[in-house]
Amino acid sequence: MATLLSVISLKGGVGKTTVSLNLAVALAQRGRSTLLADLDPQGGIGHALARPDTELRGLAELLMHEATPAQAVLRTTIPNLSLLPRGRLDPVQIPAYEEAMARGALPAPMRQVEQGFDLVLLDTPAGLGPVTRAALALSRYVLVATQAEPLALRSVGQVLRVVEHVRTHENPGLRLLGILPTMVDGSGGTGLAELPGDLTSVLSAVIPRSEAISEASRRGLPLAMLEQPLRAEANHFAVLAAEVEALVERHARGEAPPEGHALGAGR
Ligand SMILES: Nc1ncnc2c1ncn2[C@@H]1O[C@H](COP(=O)(O)OP(=O)(O)O)[C@@H](O)[C@H]1O
Ligand SMILES: [Mg+2]
Repeated sequence: MATLLSVISLKGGVGKTTVSLNLAVALAQRGRSTLLADLDPQGGIGHALARPDTELRGLAELLMHEATPAQAVLRTTIPNLSLLPRGRLDPVQIPAYEEAMARGALPAPMRQVEQGFDLVLLDTPAGLGPVTRAALALSRYVLVATQAEPLALRSVGQVLRVVEHVRTHENPGLRLLGILPTMVDGSGGTGLAELPGDLTSVLSAVIPRSEAISEASRRGLPLAMLEQPLRAEANHFAVLAAEVEALVERHARGEAPPEGHALGAGR
């Protein structure tokens, strides 16, 4: 069975999709057979990895039994990396998509498509609505992306509250892998140092604010697929992938992280 990892955030535009895409590439480059699943009804992962995303079949068709897993999952040009696009979803169908998620329609197709993968990364819409809840209910791990600014602290607290709720009531196996500071400016630190004692699971890896990352993600490309791969920027995702892998292995060995490091872990 694959290990499912959700990438979530309260706010939109914090770099979740950029992280999901480049982390998936970095994990694939480390030899993990990886599936990147686009759960965001407004998502567009894949428009550069394959053809324009509006033409791609994907999760929406799987949910409506209009495609088989083999038709919905695409190999990408990057070895070890496959993609489950959002699929064709008319904006007027978004409420129905969300209702399907709330009704528990996600597990069955995900159990089918995860076959044969080591890792499945779930990119989610902003907020803590039905799609994110469905992703959390299925996942083993969750990565919380947050913009590195003092005001982000409140939203991280709200996200962790929901993670804890899902862990207690729906998915006892859910573990917080960590909080990932994104769009970190200069050398001013992450701005997240003020996290209270029980919220100290900030990862060592950070994603800097960078014009190159912004440009790549505007084009829908992972850094690794640029004409001239940006080594310095891509290296941040390689470091993140190594940390994610190390944390997952530590959890798998049953080693509880230091007290207070990961919310709920080992309890
Ligand atoms: N590290 C970064 N540095 C600069 N711009 C970024 C970075 N990560 C993302 N962006 C830009 O910010 C916007 C939102 O990023 P995105 O990954 O789509 O966020 P989300 O999925 O959380 O809504 C995009 O325009 C993207 O190009
Ligand atoms: Mg996104």
